[in-house]
Amino acid sequence: MATSARSDSQSTGIGIFGLGVVGSAVASAISTRHNADDSSIPLNVVAAVVRDTSRNRDALIDSSIISADPGSVIANPEIGVVVELMGGVDPAFDYITRSLHAGQHVVTANKEVMAKRGSELLATASTNGVHLFYEASVAGGIPIIGPLMNDLGGNKIQSVRGIINGTTNFILTKMAHEGSDFDDVIAEAQSLGYAEADPTADVDGFDALYKISVLARLAYYTEVPVDVIHCEGIREVHAKDFRYASELGYTIKLLAVAQASEKSGVLARVHPALIPLDVPMASVNGVLNAVEVEGDLVGPLWFQGPGAGPNPTASAVMGDILRIAKGVGSNGPASKTPEPFEIASMADHKCQYYIRLTAADRPGVLANVARVLSDADISISSVLQKDTDIYNSQADLVIMTHPARESNMQSAVSSIKELDTVVRLDSLLRVENYGDRS
Ligand code: HSE
Repeated sequence: MATSARSDSQSTGIGIFGLGVVGSAVASAISTRHNADDSSIPLNVVAAVVRDTSRNRDALIDSSIISADPGSVIANPEIGVVVELMGGVDPAFDYITRSLHAGQHVVTANKEVMAKRGSELLATASTNGVHLFYEASVAGGIPIIGPLMNDLGGNKIQSVRGIINGTTNFILTKMAHEGSDFDDVIAEAQSLGYAEADPTADVDGFDALYKISVLARLAYYTEVPVDVIHCEGIREVHAKDFRYASELGYTIKLLAVAQASEKSGVLARVHPALIPLDVPMASVNGVLNAVEVEGDLVGPLWFQGPGAGPNPTASAVMGDILRIAKGVGSNGPASKTPEPFEIASMADHKCQYYIRLTAADRPGVLANVARVLSDADISISSVLQKDTDIYNSQADLVIMTHPARESNMQSAVSSIKELDTVVRLDSLLRVENYGDRS
């Protein structure tokens, strides 16, 4: 990384895009200097850009430097570091690009822009000899980008697997502990401020999708675009599934996973998964995040902490600002490296499955389902019949399979839905493989 085009005295002037809860926390952290051990590094907010200048702000920031004019930050010679906290691709991509071209370093918490346009932005930073740091874009206060970029650089990363969306973890934890259904818990999460009024980005998995795309690029030096990542949210997980999963020794979490093998390439996926109750990931509850990284030299590593919230996110942003102010660090891989991995197909993914059906309670029903699975080369590991409804002659049928290919399971599921003895296929959940845990 070339040194900045700006002088040292300029490099500590900060411009901020976005003064929402995170922007306000960053501005406050800068003004109260939480980095007490670095008091020799002067940081000061020179300008802040907001969409609506009429709103009251909590930040310890002089209102005279707040405006709606991006030109107050971009290419301002007093600003060496631009902090982008607006979120979304437009206009963030444009503002970041123009700042980098103007020779300003950029720190961002924006996972969407780093997932969708990150390789272009990193290339622009590289061309202009400036830094683009984004530790806050994944898992909030947990340092995960820095370790993947720097400390673990000597490893071949086998997998990165985590709970990287706090909103869905809060909802799933409530469902698991209180036996509530999604619709009740989402309302509570919204009233507590843990879920947005429009919760789509979180509950449909997009937030985790952006984050795992960012982590996969770093771990595998390979662009893993969001549209090749398998993504399912948590709307189809029901209270009953927690009950049955628990009887089988599991809980249910929204996992984001990137894993690679030289033979099949990189597979990234986001979906609810059954997790064995005796692995640490099963005990990551509420809004907490956790990421497991497995490297060939280091073995398994575990990172856990607050994945969102103003101060944890400000912690990550401040770390990036201070690295720039101190003149250390690199941006990591800009885009493609000499040997990127192939992108593996979800159709080839192999795991155990949990299937819950509402079926007629009469002779031959289980045999029919078993035949369909057998025709698809899927072996059953266990079967539970639950909640028998004698008035309607129906029951829940819960089937755990041995490891099977995703494509085989999807074709079996289509056939199971066609069986006239099957009222509904209620749930199909993957069981995360934790290998030999003995
Ligand atoms: N909405 C995210 C979450 C935090 O619930 O984890 C910001 O990425």
